[in-house]
Formats: sequence, C-alpha cells, structure tokens
Amino acid sequence: MRVLLTGASSGIGFSLAKELTLKGACVLATARRLDRLEQLVEQTRHHPGKLNVLDGDLTSSAHRQRLAKWCQEHWGALDVLINNAGAGAIGPFEQASADRLRRVMEIDFFAPVELTRLSIGLLRAGNRPAILNIGSVLAHRAVPNKSEYCAAKFALRGWAESLRVELAGFGIEVLMLSPSTTRSEFFDSLVDTHSDNKSRSLGSMSPERVAQLACRVLIQSKRDMILSFGGKALVIMGRLFPKLTDRLLEKTSVDSKPIQSSDR
Ligand SMILES: NC(=O)c1ccc[n+]([C@@H]2O[C@H](COP(=O)([O-])OP(=O)(O)OC[C@H]3O[C@@H](n4cnc5c(N)ncnc54)[C@H](OP(=O)(O)O)[C@@H]3O)[C@@H](O)[C@H]2O)c1
Repeated sequence: MRVLLTGASSGIGFSLAKELTLKGACVLATARRLDRLEQLVEQTRHHPGKLNVLDGDLTSSAHRQRLAKWCQEHWGALDVLINNAGAGAIGPFEQASADRLRRVMEIDFFAPVELTRLSIGLLRAGNRPAILNIGSVLAHRAVPNKSEYCAAKFALRGWAESLRVELAGFGIEVLMLSPSTTRSEFFDSLVDTHSDNKSRSLGSMSPERVAQLACRVLIQSKRDMILSFGGKALVIMGRLFPKLTDRLLEKTSVDSKPIQSSDR
C-alpha cells in the first residue's frame, strides 16, 4: 500500500506514520519540521525504505506539487491519501483578525482540498484507492470560540461528502475520521491565539489510539467515525436538542468570554 500522509511530524500523524509502516505500507510523510520527520525515519529504521519524507509547507502550491510529483516518479500511482495536517485557533470571533480566519482555512481546508485535486489521477491508478480526511467532532457540532476551526472542518466534511459520490465511479473511497480532544501538540500550535484562551474538554485520547482507529477506518472503509464518548454525546445532543446544547455551551465556555464593560 502506497500512502501519502500529511502532518506527520507530531501527534496523530507521527503515530499514524509509525503504525502504517509497521503494517507494511510504504509511506511518503510530510510536514514543515524536518528534524521531526528525521526522528520518524529513525524510529521506523527496522522497516528500511518504507518511510520517505519531504518537508515543506502544505499551504504552498509548489510543495503540494512536489509531493504529487514524488508519488508519480517513485510509485506511478497512489493507494491512500491521508489529509491529516491541521491547526486550530481559540477565542471570540469578533476579537480575532481576518488573517486568523484565512490562515485556519488555508491549512485545514484549502491545502487538503488542493492536494486531493492533484492526487486524484494518481489514486485512479492505485489499488483499492482511498482518501482519508482527518476531520473533527467539531465538523459535526460547532462550539463557541473556535468559529474559524469549526468552519474549516465543516467545509472539509461538506466537500468530502460531495467528492465521495463524484469519485465512487472510479472506485476511490472518501473516508473520514472525526477525533475529539487528542493529547498532541495541537493546543501548543494554535494560530494567532492569546495564551489565556484555553480549550475545555471531558477527557482526551492518545495519538497512538487515534492512529489505530484511523487504520480501522481504512481497513473497514468507514464513512465517518466519530471518536470518544464525549464527542459522540455532543454530536447526538446537538442534533436532538440543538437549543439546549447551545445553552449548555454558552454556560460552559467561560474561558474566552467577550470582555464585559465591568471587566475593563
Ligand atoms: N488534537 C486534537 O484535539 C484534535 C481533535 C480533533 C481533530 N484533530 C485534527 O487532527 C489532525 C492532526 O492534529 P494533531 O492533534 O496531531 O496536532 P499536531 O500534533 O499539532 O499535528 C499537526 C500536524 O500538522 C502539521 N502542519 C500544521 N501546519 C502545517 C503546514 N502549514 N504545512 C505542513 N504541515 C503542517 C504539523 O507539522 P509542522 O508543524 O511540522 O508543519 C503537524 O505535523 C488535525 O487535522 C487536527 O485538526 C485534532
């Protein structure tokens, strides 16, 4: 299996690269931090030649084209594209810059979508081809103070739903994994976010566990797997009782509340 994996320098992507090479896949792993990608190569040295790395910024069209060219030249086809790279932002929409919205949309939406466009031809030549998008519980139910991130992940899910039907005739599956809070570097790499703005969640999962479940999504061709009890509860509650969910979220989102006149 030939896999192109983005966001492989930390968290879910790092664990997934290891899991895939352990299972015998050939992986082209990418991210900006070359030192981290080299650590990955070191940690998978028992499977020589299985893991290749190309560092670069995925929001750059030139880097995306370099990735597709590498797959064309070395493999002539692609079996799996995993759109995992991503970044979040926290804080009230009104107080954020327009730049924050654009940066979140660039990495969480435009980059995976445009990499996919470049990869479809390669996937058509692949074996049991699939695109796995790493979404989020927040692609199913939005929460306050993460409006840019929720918008990007909702957009990704909507785009994937459309693409799933478009590509069915070519035998390319479009799959999704929607994690909830995961103990990665995600909350240390937030876009344009004040350090006072914290995220709250009920429990968290390890990136290793999320990586194992991502492999399960691929093996079992799961359309969209939502992770964790808390994640599923939020999504179901949001569907059944949307107004009550709004009220509960309003009450619990105290960390990034807009500044009141009495606070000034
Ligand atoms: N952690 C959570 O609680 C959580 C919950 C739900 C969904 N997710 C999703 O899971 C995915 C993986 O996140 P994670 O939790 O593993 O976070 P992470 O540890 O911060 O990993 C993010 C990865 O994306 C890469 N990346 C970010 N910006 C990039 C850019 N401009 N160009 C290339 N690569 C870039 C990072 O690499 P470099 O910095 O080296 O470029 C890193 O490898 C994301 O799509 C995220 O939205 C995470």
